[in-house]
Amino acid sequence: MKIIRTVSELLDHVAHLEQNGRSVGLVPTMGALHAGHISLVKRAVSENDAVIVSLFVNPTQFNNPDDLRTYPRDEEADFRLLAEEGVDAVFAPSVAEIYPADGPAPKSDFKLGRVAEVMEGAKRPGHFQGVAQIVNRLFQLVRPKRAYFGEKDFQQIAVIRSMVESEHIDVEIIPCPIKRAADGLALSSRNALLTEAQRAVAPEIHRALADSVELSKDHSVEEIRKTVIDRLNAIDEMEVEYFEIVDGRTLEAIDRWEESPFVVGCITVWCGKVRLIDNICYRS
Ligand code: PAJ
Repeated sequence: MKIIRTVSELLDHVAHLEQNGRSVGLVPTMGALHAGHISLVKRAVSENDAVIVSLFVNPTQFNNPDDLRTYPRDEEADFRLLAEEGVDAVFAPSVAEIYPADGPAPKSDFKLGRVAEVMEGAKRPGHFQGVAQIVNRLFQLVRPKRAYFGEKDFQQIAVIRSMVESEHIDVEIIPCPIKRAADGLALSSRNALLTEAQRAVAPEIHRALADSVELSKDHSVEEIRKTVIDRLNAIDEMEVEYFEIVDGRTLEAIDRWEESPFVVGCITVWCGKVRLIDNICYRS
């Protein structure tokens, strides 16, 4: 597995793969890899001739400096995990390599539409422009045939599709299912920041969501919203930032189940100082 640190090395490597007619799959990550990331990598390895994984904690998508400062990093462990998966190359650049101080200001005015304004878009100003910026850059450099994203970040996939459409990029976006711990907690690099007590209660997020799917058969959208929020807010150290029940395509909140054939509940919960996100499908 090749470890690539610079843009020019990456361009050479991609040119070499293209000359050999090899289809390239890209898995963008911020490292601190877990089985959720690895599930994307395995899928990519099974569907492409060569897989490039990027490992870059992208500062422009962090709206909170503390979140950026405390974001878990373990590059050596990440390289070891990826080497076992048959990955062709890892692109792990420095911040200065991606955003050189004397370089042109990177594009940051992507047309992302309404899907980037609701939920995470409303709570984390600038976050999705930062995500669009780095993913667009990676797409320009790697020119992948397919790119893999996890449904844990449900809204992120909608935003990336919107960016791909407005920038006319020829890439297939492959959504991959959420990987969970045995107790139901969605795997996340930020889980490493939970205290033991917080980690013990965190699976309640998925339990509350999963139970609410059953309840949704004979309760209104608003009743379900309130039930989930009240259940989680009753737990010590937990505070729901938002829980929205939305059309899975437009991400607009719905009032009645019949309004959409594809309904998803998206939640963000503060567990102490750690911000956890999850989602569940009610109708599809
Ligand atoms: P990161 O949080 O490292 O996640 C990288 C990819 O792994 C994303 O597509 C994410 O949805 C997926 N992922 C994370 N946890 C998962 C889980 N439990 N099950 C399945 N997939 C999971 O998302 C980002 O990085 C960044 O925003 C990025 C797209 C790399 C741009 O910087």
